[in-house]
Parts: sequence; C-alpha cells; structure tokens
Amino acid sequence: RSAGIVGAPFSKGQVSAPFTVCVSVPVVTLALFLLQPKGGVETGPDRIRAAGLLHRLKEQGCAVKDYGNLTFEELVDDKPIGLLKNVRAVGGANRRLSEAVQAVKKDGHTSVMLGGDHSLAIGSIHGHSAAVGELSVLWVDAHADINTPLTSNTGNIHGQPMSYLLHELQSKVPVLPHFSWIKPCVWAKDLVYIGLRDVDPGEHYILKLLGVKVFSMSEVDQLGVARVMEETCDYLSAKAKKPIHLSYDIDAIDPSVTPATGTPVAGGLSYREGLYITEHICQTGLLSGVDMVEVNPLRSPTEDDVQSTVNTAMDLLLSCFGRLREGNHPSHYRLP
Ligand code: ARG
Ligand code: MN
Ligand code: MN
Ligand code: MN
Repeated sequence: RSAGIVGAPFSKGQVSAPFTVCVSVPVVTLALFLLQPKGGVETGPDRIRAAGLLHRLKEQGCAVKDYGNLTFEELVDDKPIGLLKNVRAVGGANRRLSEAVQAVKKDGHTSVMLGGDHSLAIGSIHGHSAAVGELSVLWVDAHADINTPLTSNTGNIHGQPMSYLLHELQSKVPVLPHFSWIKPCVWAKDLVYIGLRDVDPGEHYILKLLGVKVFSMSEVDQLGVARVMEETCDYLSAKAKKPIHLSYDIDAIDPSVTPATGTPVAGGLSYREGLYITEHICQTGLLSGVDMVEVNPLRSPTEDDVQSTVNTAMDLLLSCFGRLREGNHPSHYRLP
C-alpha cells in the first residue's frame, strides 16, 4: 500500500460565529493576539505533517508521496448568496482539490487529503470517484454535513458537502457560481455515517427520506463499535465491493480528546473507538481515499489540547495504513 498526501489549507467552508465575536470585541481580539495567533483550520495539514506523519508512515512500511499543499486563489468579489458564505472560493478550491486527488489516484496511491474544513470533501470525493468510479463513503463525524444550501441555518458550506455529491439530492440543490463542474457521484445506499450527535432538522429529514444508514452515537452506545463496524462493512459490501472513501472529521472524537476543532460536540467517540474504526476499515483492503479534516489549533486554549488533537488525527491515519495496537512486524523480520 502507498499513501499520496495532499494538503488543503482551506478554511472558507466555515465562517465561525466566535471568530466574528473576537473581531467585534477588541479586548478579546487583543487577548487572542497577545496569546500569539495559532492559525485556524487552514494550518491543519502542516500541523499533522509536523507531528511526524510521513516519517511514521514510512517507518511502518508504507510508501509515501507528499504532493504538498494546494494553493487557493483569493477572490475579491465573493459576496454571500443568501446565507451562503464564500461560495465561489469554496467552489474554486474544491475544483483544484478534485484535480489533485485524481492525479494521486492515477499514480496508484491511496489518497490522503489533509484539511482544512469539511467542505473539502466535495473535491476529495469528486476527484476520487472521477478516477476510480463508484465509491462507498464512510463518513465519521458528529455532524451529517448534508444540509442543502436551502436547509442550512448557518450558511457554512462545511455543513453541506454531501448534498452536492449525492445523486438523489440534485433537484434540491440550486445552481451556484463555481459549482457547475461538480458532478454528483455518490448514491445514498453507498453512504454510511458513524458518530452523529448534532444533526439539524432538515438533515434528519433528508437522512430518513433517503434511507441513509446511520450509526449515531446512540447506536455506538447500544451496539458497541465492533458490531457497528461489522454491520457497516456488511452493508457497504452487500452487492459489490466498491473502493471505500473514508471522510474522517476529527470532531467525531470526543472533545476531551480532540478539543482543537471548530464545532466540538460533547459525547463523542473515545480515542479507542475512533481507532477501532480505522483499524477495521484498513483490514477490508478496500480503503482507497481518506480525508482528515477540521483540526483547528485556533480553537483550543492550550498547546497540549492542540497536540492531543493533532496526534489523534495522526494516529487515526497511521491506523488507516496498517498500524495495529497489537503491534506490527515487517514480513522479512528475523529473530536476532
Ligand atoms: N450542521 C451545522 C451546519 O450546517 C454544523 C456543521 C458542522 N460541520 C463540520 N464539518 N464541522 O453548519
Ligand atoms: Mn463535524
Ligand atoms: Mn447544530
Ligand atoms: Mn464534518
């Protein structure tokens, strides 16, 4: 197996209320400034690399190619469309990302997209599917991120990516500038959610309407993570074994472990449950693309919190590429 890493330092899919507060309250702005600005979700890719991701992947026998960070154009005229924020920037960034992921797939790697906010799943999944065909999507998140532009209460596109990707929702998604390149590429029956615990009313309606398979935190509590993963894989491979795209939002994990994220929700997956998911998906042999998104150093008060969040994101990725908690040894190992 080999990993092709694409950094996507992009944060315009989430324009956060607390940040607006910081700007409008000078004292808070000053305090934040004096505590030295840590950078937001756009610093995620470099923070995860700095934790040693590439070295650790190589050390466990995984070939790695780092495609570097994408650069995104600054758009001067990107006025909100209704509630929707940064529409053109999000559309343009994802178009670039889609092309980058297609290149990674054509080189034969498992694509690893380091975010950035979760709006980037649009380009990552689109590019993955454009290169390999139909996918199974496993979405691990506190949120469903399936709002349409019309059901969204926040206007943040990181809460909407699945609505642009699902065939079944296209009649409900309006035409948007810089979004016309997007072709829906996922069927509702090929999508599974794990970890949900903050789902908006419109999203809940959509999930029920389309009959999407959901293991909310209630089901994780009820069934346990082992049964959830068994059922997830049975469900996704029931008809055909499609390549798996794993879209992992770090806020799926409990904020006591991964506090450095923009929209933390109490009652999340434990570190162990989070790792069990990636271990299990790795063992299917079908993992073909991964997103690791929403790591946001700015959102946590202490450097320890940032470290804990970043290290958890890295551990999840290592486990996607074969790291096991029981231990590993190379096939050529000889007892000295
Ligand atoms: N449901 C809320 C919204 O639509 C929150 C989405 C949070 N998404 C995320 N990728 N963290 O804005
Ligand atoms: Mn989330
Ligand atoms: Mn909510
Ligand atoms: Mn998300």
